[in-house]
Amino acid sequence: MSDKLVIFDTTLRDGEQSPGASMTRDEKLRIARQLERLKVDVIEAGFAASSNGDFEAIKAIANTIKDSTVCSLSRANDRDITLAADALQGASRARIHTFIATSPVHMEKKLRMTPEQVLEQAKQSVRFARNRVADIEFSAEDAYRSEEDFLCRVIEAVINEGATTINVPDTVGYAIPELYGNFIKTLRERVPNSDKAIWSVHCHNDLGMAVANSLAGVKIGGARQIECTINGLGERAGNCSLEEVVMAMRTRRDYFDLDVRVDATQILAASRMVSQTTGFVVQPNKAIVGANAFAHASGIHQDGIMKARDTYEIMRAEDVGWSANKIIMGKLSGRNAFKQRLQELGVQMDSEAEVNLAFAKFKELADRKSEIFDEDILALVSEENIAQ
Ligand code: KIV
Ligand code: ZN
Repeated sequence: MSDKLVIFDTTLRDGEQSPGASMTRDEKLRIARQLERLKVDVIEAGFAASSNGDFEAIKAIANTIKDSTVCSLSRANDRDITLAADALQGASRARIHTFIATSPVHMEKKLRMTPEQVLEQAKQSVRFARNRVADIEFSAEDAYRSEEDFLCRVIEAVINEGATTINVPDTVGYAIPELYGNFIKTLRERVPNSDKAIWSVHCHNDLGMAVANSLAGVKIGGARQIECTINGLGERAGNCSLEEVVMAMRTRRDYFDLDVRVDATQILAASRMVSQTTGFVVQPNKAIVGANAFAHASGIHQDGIMKARDTYEIMRAEDVGWSANKIIMGKLSGRNAFKQRLQELGVQMDSEAEVNLAFAKFKELADRKSEIFDEDILALVSEENIAQ
């Protein structure tokens, strides 16, 4: 099995399906350029048949991006596939991602099709798409709630028609990590031609487990592609978050042992760009990209960090694009952290007694003000004439 994990970013397609997150052609192109700098393997640029604007955005991205595969979603019908292929014509590397639902509830209530009709349409659409591009991804929408025997038949058939990636979405975020991992493993074991395709996970976050489920799909199930979005943007509670899943892979390489091409130092820039473009604010305590992700506020932690960063840091802020970690000066800060900040600010104290006096003033202020900024410290020490 390959040691390489494909990172498939769908910020511009599934992320955009988040209510209120729609983007213009130029905004999408700007984000696509940042995704290329981030070195994601595949950029799902949109859904060509969904609107003229999306068609044009995919076309512009396909004509611009050189270092990542550019992909368009399409339903499993000839018109959608033709539009996807047309939009992707200028791409250095193009992928068509075609899907049809396979769960009983979706087939009966949404598609109003029998399982046999769904199977035929899945086969026919992959065959049709193969005439236009070589790289074909097939998704069985709502795969996780599908009947296993039927799903195996569909997957075997579309691989025979030429699908090169098989995506097993947890469309409604219903999965539990261990169960989802075992589900992928069972499918791979039961489908006779399973090794002819790369298996992919696509998890939604309705129960807050999209990242955990994706990791289990890789570790237990043997999937080698993760579909994810910047900041976890996406329908309802969102999709698997790219920054979290990539940094989990990196930080716990001892456990996952897979190669990920992403340049993690571009993560923060991508997060900020997506947040500013969509207006979706990143919560301060969001892993990796939240304002507090590398901030230390308590005295005990600050003291530990000053002695050795790995006391309270499992990864470096700089590795994901922050200029440095942050020591928050406030009422929980200790004397050592205060003294270090004075040094960083170029404040010279003549004696330990002066440091003690300044620290006492700082604590008084910190009781009144939740965060003490550098300017506050400078004002405090100069006002009181503690330092020259
Ligand atoms: O969640 C889902 O099932 C999807 C498919 C179209 C891949 O987004
Ligand atoms: Zn989705």
